[in-house]
Amino acid sequence: MRKIEHLGIAVRDIEKSKLLFSKLLGNESYKTESVESEGVKTEFFMIGESKIELLEATKEDSPIAKYLEKKSEGIHHIAFAVDSIEEEVKRLKSEGFEVLNEVPKRGADNKLVVFLHPKSTNGVLIELCQDVP
Ligand code: CO
Repeated sequence: MRKIEHLGIAVRDIEKSKLLFSKLLGNESYKTESVESEGVKTEFFMIGESKIELLEATKEDSPIAKYLEKKSEGIHHIAFAVDSIEEEVKRLKSEGFEVLNEVPKRGADNKLVVFLHPKSTNGVLIELCQDVP
């Protein structure tokens, strides 16, 4: 793993949260992107070398909608940048981690992403991301 690429934060109202995080960070969001397949709308902020990703559900049955139903707004996942997502998946599987999607999915911000099940990572949803070649 190279670094923490971003922290994902689940929010109910992304427009309100966008304003809140602009004030908090003293910095505008640099990208708004919807990922239709995941039923999610995202806002990205740059902070130093890392990013903050705000996530709002766009469908009732999206993973973020379910998360907000069960829990509340807050940190949803930690994303690590990796050079080779395939190699990391192999390595982590051999170490006993549970991979949620073995075939990398197209995520927001031009990334290929794989998630690890929180039950194998102390309750923290982990995202691995690699730049789309
Ligand atoms: Co993410």
